Amino acid sequence: MQIIIVPTPEALGDAAADLILRRADAGELRVLGVATGSSPVPVYRSLAERAAGRLSGVTAIALDEYVGIDPDHPESYHSVIDREVTVPLGLDPSAVHVPDGDVGGLPTAGERYEGLIRACGGVDVQILGIGATGHIGFNEPGSSLASRTRVKTLTPQTRSDNARFFAEQKDVPVHCVTQGLGTIMDAREVLLVAWGDAKSEAVAAAVEGPVTSMCPGSVLQMHPNATVIVDEAAAARL
Ligand code: GLP
Repeated sequence: MQIIIVPTPEALGDAAADLILRRADAGELRVLGVATGSSPVPVYRSLAERAAGRLSGVTAIALDEYVGIDPDHPESYHSVIDREVTVPLGLDPSAVHVPDGDVGGLPTAGERYEGLIRACGGVDVQILGIGATGHIGFNEPGSSLASRTRVKTLTPQTRSDNARFFAEQKDVPVHCVTQGLGTIMDAREVLLVAWGDAKSEAVAAAVEGPVTSMCPGSVLQMHPNATVIVDEAAAARL
């Protein structure tokens, strides 16, 4: 695991964007794994400023989606990815994929998404944030380290962390479809970004703690090609 500590979230965005653009320029980035949440926002901002067509042929595959939320809802991950990634980075919308959170399709949603990732040739670089519970994607504590894309229940803490995006706490979905930890580990390279002191505990547990399903992010210690970029606040407990 390579740990890079930078002074600010803006510097984090630039460092992560550098790595991604280097891979793209070398012809090593056909499929970019994208995450939602505030953590990768500086990365997308920096990419939007500097990519200028360098990512136009790239396919994007999102980590997760809420269950039972209309894809057109402004806080569905379909909408968030469209707004924060597809449009600013100039990606082809037909090459951007998000899990299907429609209740009717749930029994096969995981299997279908795994098939789609395979059909795209797998993920070359997977961008990840980390939740305060140590979750990556929506793999909450207790998730099997070998898990594949499936339906999960959000913890009360994650629902309350994400309530800021919804009118009321009760509007926050209870379930999600998320790539599993095994799915994420199949990416050829992973890039975890975290900033702010609220993430310092989760970062320390993921990077320096034991590898345990109780801190899902810790599985990345086993990844052969993992980079963690954090600002000084998020690195405070390392
Ligand atoms: C969200 C997402 C994760 C994200 C995490 C942290 O709920 N499903 O992919 O990494 O929680 O979010 P944030 O970056 O906003 O703190």
